[in-house]
Amino acid sequence: MKRTTKRDRKTIETSYIVQDYRLIDIPEDLIEVMNTFLKTENLYMAATRVIRTRLENLNDDFTYNRQHNPIHQIRTRVKSPLSIIEKLVRRGYEPTIRSARLYLTDIAGVRVICSYIEDIYLIASLLTSDEDIKVVRISDYIKEPKSNGYRSYHLIVAIPVFLSTGIEYVNVEIQLRTIAMDFWASLEHHLNYKQVSRKNQKIAQELKDCAQIIAETDLRMQRLYNQSKFEE
Ligand code: GTP
Ligand code: MG
Repeated sequence: MKRTTKRDRKTIETSYIVQDYRLIDIPEDLIEVMNTFLKTENLYMAATRVIRTRLENLNDDFTYNRQHNPIHQIRTRVKSPLSIIEKLVRRGYEPTIRSARLYLTDIAGVRVICSYIEDIYLIASLLTSDEDIKVVRISDYIKEPKSNGYRSYHLIVAIPVFLSTGIEYVNVEIQLRTIAMDFWASLEHHLNYKQVSRKNQKIAQELKDCAQIIAETDLRMQRLYNQSKFEE
């Protein structure tokens, strides 16, 4: 029987990290760091999948049992290593996986775009009534919008992820908003990224006014929907 050499073992360990690894001689400690990072990334990706599946099941159940689609779209993302490190350093923590897992609650992010405002509260309450899901924090920026006009319902939850090594509890940030709130947040984010609204008071006020108009439209659309349901 052929004995496994140290080189072979390294090959097995690194084959899912880099393709054409044979061409690169990766130092052992770097492999260790990359492995830890990839395992963590996989854990957070698994967590977003768990939440996505629960949400999709809820939405399908609504479609078949109540003829209504509360969820318009679900988007997920896992924070990149660079923004994890940047955020840890900005907050005065050591840039390690350990502190990321301890102090950051938004490594795994799920954005749920709902059709109507009432759908947000419905989905949030159904999701959190699941005994597996522990609520860590709720920020209701719909009832209390941010000073710039930002509106969304934020939920930080801890969920169990089942791995070959056992159960790991992982934090997930779930942002629930209407299509209209998402439209505003996307454009505001873009303008902020370009430093437009931060520097210019007039633009900031204009954006806040837009958020107000959008919020009023959301309420009107909700009333229209409720009326249409009543008249069915
Ligand atoms: P972060 O350090 O940005 O994560 O802030 P936080 O931990 O105080 O949480 P918060 O609830 O304020 O915001 C979390 C996330 O919500 C952000 O990363 C954005 O995705 C979104 N968000 C919050 N405020 C705004 C805003 O004013 N504009 C936009 N476009 N998005 C926002
Ligand atoms: Mg964040």
